[in-house]
Amino acid sequence: MIEPGKYLNPEGKVHWKSPANIALIKYWGKYPEQLPMNPSLSFVLSNSVVSIKVEYVIDDSKPLNILDFKLNGRDNPGFAEKINNYLVRLSEYFSFLKHAQLHISSESTFPHSAGIASSAAAFSALALCVCSMDEKIYEKRWNADDFFNKASYMARLGSGSACRSLFDGMVVWGFTKFLPGTSDEFAVKLSDDRVHESFRDMQDTILIASSETKKVSSSAGHELMHKHPHRENRKEQALDNLNKITRALKDGNWKMTGEIIENEALSLHGLMMSSNPGYILMRPNTITMLEKIRSFRQDTRLNVYFTLDAGPNIHLIYPFKERKDVRNFVTSDLAPLCENHKWIDDEMGKGPVNLLEDDQ
Ligand code: PMV
Repeated sequence: MIEPGKYLNPEGKVHWKSPANIALIKYWGKYPEQLPMNPSLSFVLSNSVVSIKVEYVIDDSKPLNILDFKLNGRDNPGFAEKINNYLVRLSEYFSFLKHAQLHISSESTFPHSAGIASSAAAFSALALCVCSMDEKIYEKRWNADDFFNKASYMARLGSGSACRSLFDGMVVWGFTKFLPGTSDEFAVKLSDDRVHESFRDMQDTILIASSETKKVSSSAGHELMHKHPHRENRKEQALDNLNKITRALKDGNWKMTGEIIENEALSLHGLMMSSNPGYILMRPNTITMLEKIRSFRQDTRLNVYFTLDAGPNIHLIYPFKERKDVRNFVTSDLAPLCENHKWIDDEMGKGPVNLLEDDQ
């Protein structure tokens, strides 16, 4: 039993890298404490990552203080404030944070103003840092499953979808009775035997339709779901789509998987348009690209499908073996419709990395 206030290692350093994730079944609408209205499913990306290094001293005579915060080598007071609020929230679970003196530096691979959200990567990296601090300060060692479940729970408190960034492969967040072990409080990996090998090298090409800041934030969008006329239908639809996609993923059925992910993307945007007030995040070039993607699929019979987050940019999802054809199509037909011809190549990744363990 550790006496309160007794830190075995009050000084140290932690350093984690964590990825963004792309949802195939969308989380839309939340209850207090960032609990989801419906379960969602995603996979983590490989290149879109944030790494966070925290150097800390725990000093009971001082309150929590971020002594400095750097994002890609520069001060960023806006983001530092968000992190401070998040750490205050986590101090309900980790009392040492109430007295932590912190130097935090963060590196992000997200292209500046590409309109791609980095919050899932950032909050999951930070949650991992705090869980590692807990282990070091009190010289305890969680087993890997408990550690990542706990980090997922903590990441959720920063940004709901961040809780899905902690695991490789397909990840489910939200309780559903047909997937044992699922929870509203943290995400779980869909076991490998439930995912056919043809889904293990999924590609994600991100087409930047616009990098402008969104007029309606995701938080505002989640909020509008409370009084949404289609709220109950949406919960049923998401459950039904999750049920179907898990079968399609197991069977290696790309066609069915693709149809479900497009249905999810268009439903998400339909929910935004039919909210009160309604709003539109797609841009005219988003729609032009979606139509081109569908025609290309019809002409070539390739497995290339789209999904969209709460924004105008398109994620093209396809298997590695179709990469060459899809790349040619992107360069010739879609890049000219992207803002400044900008698109980003990414693919399914392997999850977070402890950079300190990598150093040693
Ligand atoms: O985690 P949030 O609050 O940024 O919400 C993310 C919502 C979507 O990206 C639209 C869907 C999802 O499941 O990631």
